[in-house]
Amino acid sequence: MSEKQKILVTSALPYANGPLHLGHLAGAYLPADIYVRYQRLKGNDVVYICGSDEHGVAITIRAEQEGVAPRHIIDRFHEINKRSFERFGMSFDNYSRTSLPMHHETAQEFFLDAYNKGILKKKKEKQFYDEEARMFLPDRYVEGTCPICNSPGARGDQCEQCGSDLNQTDLIEPKSKVTGKAPVLRETYHWYFPLGDFQERLKEYLNSHPDWKENVKNYCYGWIKQGLKDRAVTRDLQWGIKVPLEEAKDKVIYVWFEAVLGYISSTKEWAQKIGQPERWKDYWQDETCRLIHFIGKDNIVFHAIMFPAILMAKEGYALPDNVPANDFLNLEGGKFSTSRNYAVWLEEYLEKFPPDPLRFCLSAIAPETKDSDFSWKDFQTRNNSELVGILGNFVNRSLTFVEKHFENRVPEQKQSDDLDQWILKRISEAPEQVGKALDKFELRRSLKAFMDVCRDANKYFNDKEPWLTVRSDRERCGTTLNICIQISKALAILMAPFMPFTAEKLWQLLNLDGEVHKQNWSEAGSRFIEVGHRLNKPEILFSKIDDPVIEEQIEKLKNVAQSDTPEQREKEEALPETNLISIEDFKKVDLRVAKIIKAEKVEKADKLLRLDVEIGQEKRQIVAGIAEHYAPETLINKQIIVVANLSPAKIRGLESQGMLLAAQDDSGTLRLLTVDAEIGTGAKIS
Ligand code: 2FM
Ligand code: ZN
Repeated sequence: MSEKQKILVTSALPYANGPLHLGHLAGAYLPADIYVRYQRLKGNDVVYICGSDEHGVAITIRAEQEGVAPRHIIDRFHEINKRSFERFGMSFDNYSRTSLPMHHETAQEFFLDAYNKGILKKKKEKQFYDEEARMFLPDRYVEGTCPICNSPGARGDQCEQCGSDLNQTDLIEPKSKVTGKAPVLRETYHWYFPLGDFQERLKEYLNSHPDWKENVKNYCYGWIKQGLKDRAVTRDLQWGIKVPLEEAKDKVIYVWFEAVLGYISSTKEWAQKIGQPERWKDYWQDETCRLIHFIGKDNIVFHAIMFPAILMAKEGYALPDNVPANDFLNLEGGKFSTSRNYAVWLEEYLEKFPPDPLRFCLSAIAPETKDSDFSWKDFQTRNNSELVGILGNFVNRSLTFVEKHFENRVPEQKQSDDLDQWILKRISEAPEQVGKALDKFELRRSLKAFMDVCRDANKYFNDKEPWLTVRSDRERCGTTLNICIQISKALAILMAPFMPFTAEKLWQLLNLDGEVHKQNWSEAGSRFIEVGHRLNKPEILFSKIDDPVIEEQIEKLKNVAQSDTPEQREKEEALPETNLISIEDFKKVDLRVAKIIKAEKVEKADKLLRLDVEIGQEKRQIVAGIAEHYAPETLINKQIIVVANLSPAKIRGLESQGMLLAAQDDSGTLRLLTVDAEIGTGAKIS
């Protein structure tokens, strides 16, 4: 028997600024919980850590919107989210809070350590300031139009539409989120963490993890290729963890510097709770422990670059072994949106339906390699056809048959034929087949392997025709039903990571000792229930969901979409993915070939270039967010595609008279659209 593997698993700490919806679950939570439950069944030494992320602008903005103190918001949503997670079956060993003194101390210790080692750099700089609210406006406190994709409502730190990381000062027409006024620039100072100094070590570290998901690797290498830059790790805010320096009493530690350390604090809290306060070190300070951080794709840089660098700076800590990041889940073809209330809220879902069908459905459509879509119809079909029609049906027909014809006791397994041998082999191999996909974080493939076993179990039942053999050959019938009960037992263990509540229920129906979650995964298909074992009264595992119930849910979402303000609708319609447009709409966009005749950097704007372009007889100025991808001199005489009839916009005081077209992939690499051979400038694109 091999040694137990130590594994510390984390799910991204959700901001305690609002309730959870299905989009959250599909990314960082459900996949982690399934993985953890599976590893526990395999007998590994797993600790599963999470908690509320309670600092940063996400919290204070919500507090200001509601006119209450931030503390009020975090207390409310910490409790709500903790409870929803429990009801959904999340099996955290600890669900902590970053507002706890334990976490403040941990974060300050890391900050001071980096400061004392001379790693942090202090820099003077100009930051947006709201003169009316008399406050600096870090991160999301400023919104404006994205300089990359031109979407309105881009946040100061990131554009949600195109996913670009932004500098506030690059936003077009920036506005304060507090007063709605245009901010001014005011001098301040901050401490920076020099990511660039860790570039080589980070590259080596990434190279040593070729097994990571492609999206994560591409993203990280993309960042490294562009050259890692210093990142500010302090903010001018009241709410947060105080910078532990006399000279900076009015500053707090940047939320992303400390939130990732929340995993360590939460493990410390867990260790205290179990009465072994030093135990956290067995996971965080031991190279043999695998640290696995489940996140959504928008958190990659913080976990796969920044967090390892912080740990390297501190020394003595293990580094993340894997950072499985999932893509995003959409809802009925649109993006989940908390502000528009376009979401399926977990609490609301749980008022109407049991957790397991949702766990099943979200696993089947997990956004593992690309964004995926949740639809209520698909949910209904999966519940009715697969859970009720296949898995539930097999278990139910097996249990009721034994109750009816064998006094509810496991009949004897006598001589087995080829079909019996086939299905017995099938279930003995199932743990390996279902498990090996889970080892690679591939929920979809694992669930499919599980459902294939269920399909084969039904086929077995059908082919054996026990309803005939019960009269013609009772011994044979007994063998069939014995095997069906053994299969049911195996299915209970194999479904446990995905559907823990149903697994437990089936374990009860089979009247088996202990908990299904404490069983041995590898032996799920080979350790048999004894002949004569008494079963409990059969009950169905899943219920059918009728059309009106689903239609009500669909209607609810439609009403949300219809009640959108024109501004919200405009934003929603700017979504790239599924909104079809007519040819008339497309023709409204005047796309032209243009030639770049001059290109230069925009002062104090890392991402912006100012271009002079020629479109036929006309000369125009375009300001574009491509400075990190193209050196200005390489652009001269390049033919590009521009939107010629876009209303001009002011970017950094410069008028941009059009927009150029570019493609950007998940890794952040950006390429300009061009023509495949020279053509007269001004040529119309159709
Ligand atoms: O994106 C988010 O919801 C963040 N609160 C995730 C933080 S993960 C970790 F750093 F704690
Ligand atoms: Zn954008």
